[in-house]
Amino acid sequence: MHFSQPETTSSGYPVMDRWKYYDIIHQRHSVMNPVNETKLERLYDLLELKPNARAIDIGCGKGEMLMRLAEKYDIKGLGIDKSPYCILEAQKLKRQRIPQANLKFLEMDGAQYKPETGEYSDLTMCIGATWIYGGYKNTVSALCGMTRAPGFVMVGEPLWRTNPPKEYLQSEGLSADSFDTHQGNVRTGESEGLRPVFTLVGSKEDWDRSEGLHWTSATEYAFAHPEDTDLEELLARDSKERESYLRWGRDTLGWAIYLFRKM
Ligand SMILES: C[S@@+](CC[C@H](N)C(=O)[O-])C[C@H]1O[C@@H](n2cnc3c(N)ncnc32)[C@H](O)[C@@H]1O
Repeated sequence: MHFSQPETTSSGYPVMDRWKYYDIIHQRHSVMNPVNETKLERLYDLLELKPNARAIDIGCGKGEMLMRLAEKYDIKGLGIDKSPYCILEAQKLKRQRIPQANLKFLEMDGAQYKPETGEYSDLTMCIGATWIYGGYKNTVSALCGMTRAPGFVMVGEPLWRTNPPKEYLQSEGLSADSFDTHQGNVRTGESEGLRPVFTLVGSKEDWDRSEGLHWTSATEYAFAHPEDTDLEELLARDSKERESYLRWGRDTLGWAIYLFRKM
């Protein structure tokens, strides 16, 4: 799991391009988060977006969630991501799957995106990228400011399943207040004046699948590109993340999507 996407690592290796690293380890992910796509379908069903509803996804990755929504509803969508790999992939998938859909993908820092005056959305999302706004609470607040009532605010965020062991926090550069409990995450939305309407909590199986796909992708890349000078760093980082997940993350951390409604 990646809690932020730093430009430097403490691994002692020269730092490979971070967008390249995340692109490689997500080769087999559509949604780049520990979520079950069957359960996600039920979440999309719940939204019942009206024709021409406006949706925005900050840190949209490969644009999978917006694309699934555009396949289901006649929406006008905007996906923003800082990774050139993700944006190119999102644009390619959009051309292949739904060329007629009113979806745009922009490569830029999500924190810098400001909607035009009066351009509110009916669904605002930030799924697994809340560092963009400096944390979960700020993200809920920023998205709320871009949403028109009775629209939806949807945020994907880790949660503590249990008190995190000190070694885990040290190893990941986290603190106990880096995340909240599931109840705490719901309450934060309420404290921002939003009404909680649904949560989709990933299971350990969902995490195992998502983490396992990182290991598969890193290994496949190593076989296919033995000449890449970034390989040593790629495999070392993947191994360190695997160890941390198996040792602590799997039992300590959960992940959920929080759905709120603006009243
Ligand atoms: C864990 S992935 C989640 C992607 C997508 N929301 C999904 O669920 O498939 C985090 C995403 O945030 C993007 N990202 C990181 N920093 C960003 C920033 N400052 N502005 C916009 N996107 C950013 C990454 O490129 C990556 O696609």
